[in-house]
Amino acid sequence: MKRALVIMMLLTFVAASVAFAADTVTYTGKGTVTFNHKAHGEKLGCDACHEGTPAKIEIKDKDSGHGKCLACHKTMTDKGAPTKCNECHKK
Ligand code: HEC
Ligand code: HEC
Ligand code: HEC
Repeated sequence: MKRALVIMMLLTFVAASVAFAADTVTYTGKGTVTFNHKAHGEKLGCDACHEGTPAKIEIKDKDSGHGKCLACHKTMTDKGAPTKCNECHKK
């Protein structure tokens, strides 16, 4: 009984963290970069970006943005990941 309760609590916790992750995130440092979090997660799995329990990843400037986003895109052009400036930075 107790064991089942703990498992149920864990499942609720996992569901809650998934629910709190935004479907899309917008960055506005240079034009507007729209990150479709949901689509990336479905296509690549959470582990592609998150280690362990998913938590906030700070993307705030060129180093973090290109280090985390563009670096992966360069390795996945065969899967259709965009690498041209205006494919991420709109207008
Ligand atoms: C895979 C998507 C992607 C591509 C392709 C990309 N960038 Fe970025 N870039 C980002 C993200 C994400 C950030 C960080 C978030 C922000 O600053 O809006 C960023 C940040 C920047 C910044 C800093 C903006 C600021 O906050 O001051 C500059 C400048 C920049 N990029 C220029 C470029 C140029 C030039 C190219 C083409 C050679 C390029 N980017 C290609 C995603 C991309
Ligand atoms: C392509 C990389 C990538 C993938 C794949 C990914 N995430 Fe994220 N995740 C991010 C980034 C970047 C952020 C930070 C977004 C922001 O700036 O608010 C984030 C934030 C989060 C947060 C914290 C939200 C907040 O604002 O505190 C959670 C929870 C999360 N992701 C869960 C998941 C789950 C669950 C999956 C798998 C279904 C997943 N992520 C897949 C990149 C990714
Ligand atoms: C682990 C690898 C990986 C990381 C990290 C990653 N991407 Fe992607 N991204 C991809 C792949 C693969 C595609 C092509 C998938 C598709 O469109 O079917 C893609 C597609 C895109 C697209 C075009 C399709 C769309 O959703 O509009 C944009 C824009 C984009 N990514 C932005 C970002 C930004 C911004 C970040 C960082 C916050 C990021 N990506 C992080 C692998 C990654």
